[in-house]
Amino acid sequence: MENFVGIITGCNALTGIGRATAYSIAKKNPKAIYVTDIKDSDLSTLAKDITNTTGVECIAKRVDASSDEDIKGVIDDAMKRYGRLDFFYANAGIGNAKSMAEQTKEVFTEMMVNNTWSVFAAVKYASAAMEITSSEKPKSAGSIVATASIAAARSGAGSMSYAASKAAVVNICQTGAWRLHGKNIRVNAVCPGVIETEMTRPLLEAIAKDPRKQRLAKLHTALERYGKPEEVGAMVAFLISKDASFITGQAITVDGGATAALPYLPLFADS
Ligand SMILES: NC(=O)c1ccc[n+]([C@@H]2O[C@H](COP(=O)([O-])OP(=O)(O)OC[C@H]3O[C@@H](n4cnc5c(N)ncnc54)[C@H](O)[C@@H]3O)[C@@H](O)[C@H]2O)c1
Repeated sequence: MENFVGIITGCNALTGIGRATAYSIAKKNPKAIYVTDIKDSDLSTLAKDITNTTGVECIAKRVDASSDEDIKGVIDDAMKRYGRLDFFYANAGIGNAKSMAEQTKEVFTEMMVNNTWSVFAAVKYASAAMEITSSEKPKSAGSIVATASIAAARSGAGSMSYAASKAAVVNICQTGAWRLHGKNIRVNAVCPGVIETEMTRPLLEAIAKDPRKQRLAKLHTALERYGKPEEVGAMVAFLISKDASFITGQAITVDGGATAALPYLPLFADS
């Protein structure tokens, strides 16, 4: 990632995927990373720690990922300061645990604006900046990664509005990759399974209190555990890097094997 400049959304949560990914990307030695979030209580400590521990320039900025103005603003800042944009990780998102009956048009729209428009806006505005060339960056180039979910593929990993918002994220990455054909700008989605973060804390706490749920949760993945944010971060950092130069339009799953199986049945002697 030599000389790369890029932006990550959804980095404020202390145990979140965005924050862990900022460290995974910093390890690959880019020039600068913007760490952003709609909440900024813990962003500047993240930026300082990354700069102190890796030497990578890290800038904290409050950005609502669903706001066109905010997204354009942080991209303009990067272009003014560094003259280039090489990656954008559209990670910010919200969840809800509402039943079908509890979903309303307002709840659905809020989900789509935060989880889906945020990714569309990232592809739209970041790709325009990635096309801009200079003596330091003679050709159009860039990598956009968005956080979808295994909920994008099938039921059982989130509410209906959440799953629909993430299915649309996968499609935006596929269609975005082709809309940008010939521009050397790659667009991919990463689809995490259950990862231990603030978003899943209520669910995981409820499971931990109930031995029956605990036994079922253990069978959820082939690795018999949940994922860690840095295990998603490692995949995102790879997708952003030049090592992934022929990968575009894909949805890459990081789920401990959860989606490889039908719901578990103890069919075999060693089960
Ligand atoms: N944790 C999981 O199991 C899991 C699984 C699949 C996908 N995901 C997705 O991963 C992404 C990160 O989730 P997480 O688990 O780290 O959750 P988290 O709640 O720990 O972190 C999400 C961060 O996004 C920020 N955010 C929310 N809306 C925003 C907006 N409009 N603009 C800017 N920032 C905003 C929050 O303030 C928070 O800091 C989300 O898109 C989520 O849907 C999570």
